[in-house]
Amino acid sequence: MVVLDNLQKGHRAAVADAEFVLGDIADQDLVNKTVTRYGIEAVVHLAADSLVGESMQQPGKYFRHNVGKGAAFLEALAEGGVKYFVFSSTAAVYGEPREIPITEEHPTRPTNVYGATKLMIEEMLRWYEHIYGLRWISLRYFNAAGADPSGLIGEDHHPETHLIPLVLQTALGKRPVLQIYGDDYPTPDGTCLRDYIHVTDLSTAHVLALEALAAGSPSAVYNLGNGNGFSVREVIRVAEQVVGRPIPVEVAARRAGDPAVLVASSARIKAELNWRPRYNDLETIIRTAWAWHRQHPDGFARIMNIDYSGARTINGQ
Ligand SMILES: NC(=O)c1ccc[n+]([C@@H]2O[C@H](COP(=O)([O-])OP(=O)(O)OC[C@H]3O[C@@H](n4cnc5c(N)ncnc54)[C@H](O)[C@@H]3O)[C@@H](O)[C@H]2O)c1
Repeated sequence: MVVLDNLQKGHRAAVADAEFVLGDIADQDLVNKTVTRYGIEAVVHLAADSLVGESMQQPGKYFRHNVGKGAAFLEALAEGGVKYFVFSSTAAVYGEPREIPITEEHPTRPTNVYGATKLMIEEMLRWYEHIYGLRWISLRYFNAAGADPSGLIGEDHHPETHLIPLVLQTALGKRPVLQIYGDDYPTPDGTCLRDYIHVTDLSTAHVLALEALAAGSPSAVYNLGNGNGFSVREVIRVAEQVVGRPIPVEVAARRAGDPAVLVASSARIKAELNWRPRYNDLETIIRTAWAWHRQHPDGFARIMNIDYSGARTINGQ
């Protein structure tokens, strides 16, 4: 396995058991050489700018980075003879939900530039299949959450915008208070409901997607969520149980463009790729995240590289 990352947001220490190539996906020469040198047939494309709010303030940056660099990357891969492509897409392609749970048939009308850029890449993929025969699977993630059950690898974003790390950083005293953006939504407790999918289940879906493509499956789009909506207040309540202490919160104004409820139907990927989420209860998701944050309050900052030799998952495997 080879990881190519420009480290604009990623961490070198998080790449433990793969070759690492430092560089940008838009560097076609580098991508070409990497494809040739390692004989690469399949690519998982995770690189993106992915801050919804920023995408509405700097739309040009998102079109240039996600779409422009994505196009250069795809071109280099197709010309290099790559056959299979798995793409990190997002629930943001759907926009304001018309019905819950959201299936892949739901209309795609993004309400932010970030979601629009992901939809544009999906459209490009259809053309690359038509012209080059590249087969692809687009995985539309809902909220990725949790940490590797070994406790050795987890979220470390700057800025952090995801709820669970924010809650746990507040529990650690790294933030004075957690802000709840609106408690007057039409939901049981007034806070937004989101679908959290554990990163291990997410990564399993990528492996299944690659295996399916290699076995001849057609290109496809799949939602990835666990089908349960948890409110912001539920996340905080379960986090308080896991960490064993109260977490200070304050209610702030709603953020523009936040739908009240976002919950996925993942029936299609379950039926077609036999995907079975294993870590789909909120407590397990938060417990794995807490193991990471508690042991690594500064994220990857003090980790040079990760030694997986003594790693154990929560199931002891
Ligand atoms: N985290 C979520 O909840 C979520 C939800 C839906 C979709 N996604 C998508 O999943 C993917 C991964 O998300 P994440 O939360 O891990 O984001 P992240 O920012 O932590 O990871 C993106 C990685 O891509 C690298 N990168 C960005 N631009 C690059 C470029 N031009 N060349 C080389 N490397 C580059 C970054 O350094 C980073 O390591 C993204 O495409 C994101 O849009 C994430």
